[in-house]
Amino acid sequence: MTEAPERILVVDDEENMVHFLTKLLRAEGFVVEGTGTGEAALDRLRDAPFELVLTDLKLPDTDGIEILKAARELHPETVVVLITAHGTIESAIEAMRAGAYDYVTKPFRASEILQVVNKALERVRLRREVVQLRQAVEQRFGLAGLVGKSAKMQEVYTQIEKFAAARGVVLIQGESGTGKELVAKALHFNSPRKAGPFVVIDCGAIPEALQESELFGHEKGAFTGAIATKKGLFEEAHGGTLFLDEVAELAPGLQAKLLRALQDGEIRRVGGTKTLRVDARVIAATNRDLAAEVRDGAFREDLFFRLNVFPLFLPPLRERREDIPLFVDHFLDRIAQDGGGPLKRLSPEALRAMLAYPWPGNVRELEHALERAALLSEGEAITARDLPPEILAPGDELTLSLPGSTEGFKETMARVIRDVEVRLIRRALAQSGSNRTEAARILGISRRALLYKLKEYNLGRL
Ligand SMILES: Nc1ncnc2c1ncn2[C@@H]1O[C@H](COP(=O)(O)OP(=O)(O)OP(=O)(O)O)[C@@H](O)[C@H]1O
Ligand SMILES: [Mg+2]
Repeated sequence: MTEAPERILVVDDEENMVHFLTKLLRAEGFVVEGTGTGEAALDRLRDAPFELVLTDLKLPDTDGIEILKAARELHPETVVVLITAHGTIESAIEAMRAGAYDYVTKPFRASEILQVVNKALERVRLRREVVQLRQAVEQRFGLAGLVGKSAKMQEVYTQIEKFAAARGVVLIQGESGTGKELVAKALHFNSPRKAGPFVVIDCGAIPEALQESELFGHEKGAFTGAIATKKGLFEEAHGGTLFLDEVAELAPGLQAKLLRALQDGEIRRVGGTKTLRVDARVIAATNRDLAAEVRDGAFREDLFFRLNVFPLFLPPLRERREDIPLFVDHFLDRIAQDGGGPLKRLSPEALRAMLAYPWPGNVRELEHALERAALLSEGEAITARDLPPEILAPGDELTLSLPGSTEGFKETMARVIRDVEVRLIRRALAQSGSNRTEAARILGISRRALLYKLKEYNLGRL
């Protein structure tokens, strides 16, 4: 793609100079306009953005610094280069302070002015690239980066949008690998704080003794080894978001301190005497059932309520199987992009196996299974043979997780029964070589009943 030529505004009261510069720069392929007064220059700037303004410092009606200020106010991305007459270096320095990119002193050679102009425009291009990159990152971590169209994921998206705009703590709960960190990023990058920092602390990975100093920082000499004052992650997250991952792993003493920080919006460094106001939005996540941890006395109830302002539950992958084909496409695309290898597709029988598997490790397990399979497979398609063995021959043992805060006894029973039904149907289909009439006969149900169940459990592809 060729970019539009860059636009340059030349401002000088010497007609010869305007003529010379216009001709020179046009020959380089730029779009150039020339004006002789500050008034005319301001008019042009109000009309349209220029990438670069090249202005004389001394103008009949105003000076280059006024042009500079106006240009930057109207179009902050515009760069300004000043032309000064001999002996006005002082004002050139003043101009640099006011935000000029560079200056040239008269008389100058054509090569000299071209060099300055090209350097200045290089800076404009770089800045533009940074903005584009940032937008790409936001895309990746915005809602656009989240895969899934199931009703359960739609609900998650609605919650993300609502919670992102708010200020209160979000507590994300979900099994390992369900996307808690990704959702935390989506919350941050869709919030009014998206330009601020996103700071992650994995409470499970930090030894108890270091948790306080990690979170709140320490003053020099607070303890042996504290050779310098260090900011804590709470402070680092000022103006942005602090993501407290594996929050259930926080030591009891720290739970009390975190509670205080959340209540008062203030923290104190280890060994510090003054309190510091911190404006960081907190998002917490856990793969434990935090309400159950509270009942067991392992987690403070008051902190739980403080964290649970906006609860967000991420459903396990086995409860949104219809998203599996989307995940497969998404990860295969990504694997091809990152590794530069050819884009591989999944054979129907491999997809069938993936749709039937219960995915205890959720999306992460699926991602890893595909990465491994993409590496192992030799042809264009990934076949069932390339998949990890447990996906092909899942044990028949049931995943009997007990009811927790999110699920009552009735729901648990329904889940277990559904699980059993799914397994029986899968087995029957395997035995019948995917012949549905035969599978229904094996199961002792009507073909219609089997088709109904296949639809209900999203096993349509089996
Ligand atoms: N909805 C989704 N769309 C795209 N990728 C996803 C989605 N959910 C999870 N992933 C991917 O799955 C992997 C695991 O996600 P993530 O690390 O967010 O899970 P987690 O819930 O924090 O897991 P853990 O509890 O083990 O820390 C990541 O590579 C993430 O990009
Ligand atoms: Mg995580």
